[in-house]
Amino acid sequence: MTVSFARLDPTGDDHDTLVEFMTRNEFPFHVHPRWGAAEVDAAIGKGAYRDEDHDSFWIDHHDLGRLGVLRLEDLSDDAPLFDLRLDTPFRGRGLGVDVLRAVTDHVFGTMPAVKRFEGQTREDNIAMRRIFVRCGWLKEAHYREGWPVDGGTPLAAVAYGILRHDWEAGETTTFDWDDLPV
Ligand SMILES: CC(C)(COP(=O)(O)OP(=O)(O)OC[C@H]1O[C@@H](n2cnc3c(N)ncnc32)[C@H](O)[C@@H]1OP(=O)(O)O)[C@@H](O)C(=O)NCCC(=O)NCCS
Repeated sequence: MTVSFARLDPTGDDHDTLVEFMTRNEFPFHVHPRWGAAEVDAAIGKGAYRDEDHDSFWIDHHDLGRLGVLRLEDLSDDAPLFDLRLDTPFRGRGLGVDVLRAVTDHVFGTMPAVKRFEGQTREDNIAMRRIFVRCGWLKEAHYREGWPVDGGTPLAAVAYGILRHDWEAGETTTFDWDDLPV
């Protein structure tokens, strides 16, 4: 497999490398685009990278090495969400589809209780949105002005989801947006 995952130990062996990764990179489409070391430390301390609801992994590529970090949220709900962050040198190189396919395989393949898997991004994160669609995820919500932008007008948050049975069948089922006649 080209893309694989190594579970992170955020308070032990991987702590310093994780802080270095988070502070070295910029995340222009996240609510919090720049992180200081103390903020990463505080997030780790609050369990954002590992507790009963969260887990995190290095994303490794067979030929290219370490691509970035995957964080899972809401794990006790059986409908987790993800946060995916590639290292800057690996962005914009067409790796996103392989990475999201591997993330989806990893979650459904290792977590039998998970029946649906979710992700959200800002409306102008075109790369992430294209990847969702190309990987068979379905747009399920468009939260207008739902994404705060520091010093600017809020943008929309766009939510995508994939169901276990669609993942198993390799298809994308949909639903009727206008299901309520008025
Ligand atoms: C978002 C992210 C995962 C995308 O992965 P990536 O490997 O950089 O994306 P790709 O190079 O595979 O690009 C995906 C597609 O978007 C297109 N694209 C990328 N940037 C674009 C832009 N600004 N405008 C239009 N299309 C764009 C690419 O051409 C490609 O198109 P294709 O579907 O025709 O192949 C990665 O850039 C990243 O980690 N960014 C920082 C963190 C982040 O925003 N994470 C998402 C939140 S969950």
